Amino acid sequence: MENQTNHDPVAIVIFGAAGDLTWRKLIPSLYSLREENWLPEHFAIVGLDMKPLGDDDFRARLREGVEKFSRHGSPGSDTWQSFASSLSYCAADFADPACYEKLRVRLEELDKSWGGEAVRIYYLATPPDLIQVIPERLHAARLAMNCAKARIVVEKPFGRDLHSARKLNRILTASFDERQIFRIDHYLGKETVQNILAFRFANALFEPIWDRRYIDNIQITVAEQVGIEHRGLYYEKTGALRDMIQNHLIQILCLIAMEPPVSFAADEIRNKKTDLLHAIRPISPERVNESAARGQYGAGWIEGKRVASYREEPDVAADSTTETYAAVRFFVDNWRWQDVPFYLRTGKRLPSRVSEVSIQFRPVPHRSFPAMAMRDFQPNRLMLRIQPDEGILLRFQAKRPGIQMHLSPVDMHFFYQEAFRAAPREAYETLLVDVIMGDETLFKRADQIEAAWSVITPILEAWESSAPPDFPNYAAGDWVVEPASVLIAQDGRNWLAPSVAVLEERQDEWTSLEHRKSGSSP
Ligand code: BG6
Repeated sequence: MENQTNHDPVAIVIFGAAGDLTWRKLIPSLYSLREENWLPEHFAIVGLDMKPLGDDDFRARLREGVEKFSRHGSPGSDTWQSFASSLSYCAADFADPACYEKLRVRLEELDKSWGGEAVRIYYLATPPDLIQVIPERLHAARLAMNCAKARIVVEKPFGRDLHSARKLNRILTASFDERQIFRIDHYLGKETVQNILAFRFANALFEPIWDRRYIDNIQITVAEQVGIEHRGLYYEKTGALRDMIQNHLIQILCLIAMEPPVSFAADEIRNKKTDLLHAIRPISPERVNESAARGQYGAGWIEGKRVASYREEPDVAADSTTETYAAVRFFVDNWRWQDVPFYLRTGKRLPSRVSEVSIQFRPVPHRSFPAMAMRDFQPNRLMLRIQPDEGILLRFQAKRPGIQMHLSPVDMHFFYQEAFRAAPREAYETLLVDVIMGDETLFKRADQIEAAWSVITPILEAWESSAPPDFPNYAAGDWVVEPASVLIAQDGRNWLAPSVAVLEERQDEWTSLEHRKSGSSP
């Protein structure tokens, strides 16, 4: 992408501008983009929310967010002044048509001062129920008409099941053309998630073995150390399956398993992902128990600190049955993947924050080495580390130094930071630039979202109709969630330790080896 300073003028209208997403993600990302010249010269952000706030208070609050969360850290006073001059706020009731009239006047003023019609981006950073109102009101106020210049960005959660997602799609497409709709999944903006396509399709080495003949199973882990962070009201109605599996993990699965695209055109990539979603074997209601497992954290210890159980969190019912952990086994019914299990798991309050895809290859077909040499044998494993310490690890066997033949697994590493001398940028920065450019590749199309809901519907229905008997069933700070271990053990496998843990373990082994060699005590 090139520097955007010469782009048409852009006005971003944020609905929900007094909220957390605007504060933590949107404005810090826009600020970083401004700092790096990704925004056009004529650029404005109009914040709308219910809260009565003056422009100055609005700017002061956003400055705090930029200080805390932007990659560029604390802004200098001149740079902040120049960025802040593009920010304005308007207290508004989103259901009231008068709000849209005011907005129209404001946008027309901006167009006039810039000498042409700006690209208008309506960003819905609002609670989900408002997504049902705003598009229709924008349309009624004739703010959605210009297909080439008006865009709407919709945050997750996109519905809470297939039925409500379809309804939302109908509401959106009644007022906006599909080409104007940008449904965000911030995981798709992460560098390492995008790198899955580069890794698979820009290298000749891996694609020939990327199938059922060489791969035994694939595990996708998104582990979080945090709990629900004051989002009890939202989380109680959502749970891990809806919050994470339906969107982020299934999107990663699509990138790992989809067929090679013919081009990088937005619809070509999205078609290939949708094909994959359609190939996921439906889970029949009577097989949900052998295909999915759920958990909820009890009290425990994380990094030496005592943390409360989920049921003790604010706004959570004392007998809540909401899952904070979900694990699912999918199969993909096509030639490439027949009978290869894809295990997906995610949970809150796990020991470390790590998102990773582990591709476990099959063992060699014939072991010609003596049994002694193979004591530590492990089949090849490829780990795509999405966060933190973004990178890729390939594990293979090597001969240990020594007279006898003794094989040991060793790792080959690629770290983003080391290779490119730069930390990956915030996902929202990439996604916001794409919305400005009108590039939909990283955004979800209506059919994709509906297909993803269809995939998890049987699990949602089964879990909603039978309360879990054993919640809470894992301690905060523990990797082991019994039902998930049982889920994978039935296939004779186990969850692979994420490479963060592996690296720490290796580091310990290495340190004690060094100590042994030098004769010092560890
Ligand atoms: C959000 C979920 O979509 O993703 C949160 O609603 C979760 O519950 C977050 O914590 C995780 O995102 P990241 O980028 O921190 O891995």
